[in-house]
Amino acid sequence: MLLLEVNGTAHQVEADPETPLLWVLRDELGLTGTKYGCGVAQCGACTVHVDGQPRRACTTPLKAVAGKHVTTIEGVASKAAKAVQAAWVKLDVVQCGYCQSGQIMTAVALLEQKPKPSDVDIDHAMTGNICRCATYQRIRAAIHEASKAL
Ligand code: FES
Ligand code: FES
Repeated sequence: MLLLEVNGTAHQVEADPETPLLWVLRDELGLTGTKYGCGVAQCGACTVHVDGQPRRACTTPLKAVAGKHVTTIEGVASKAAKAVQAAWVKLDVVQCGYCQSGQIMTAVALLEQKPKPSDVDIDHAMTGNICRCATYQRIRAAIHEASKAL
């Protein structure tokens, strides 16, 4: 039995400590906003925050998040998160949408650490988040748009 805190709520989870966090989020807790893309930390679709840092939930074992704060797309609600959500809507960033919760989680973490990022900062932070619809230009513009509100 492992104690897991997700979006401010404590959960007792019956699972092997090596189980990837993503499996528990989606299959046990029903938090399906976090997506499965590659399963090997290569696409960013599964990005969540662990103590405020972006982490790939597909390769993060449960034992690594015991006692830490996990935030998913369903629970992210900081000032930076609200600015990102508003900018994403304003600039109509999303195409198919599959990668976007991961993109947003990475963008929020960036803006929480660096409210006025340069293009280089954005490209560096977002480089591990793949978008098959190639929304990269709109993502970069939306991060700049969000930073204006911070
Ligand atoms: S599903 Fe985790 S990085 Fe691709
Ligand atoms: S919006 Fe389709 S994969 Fe990114």
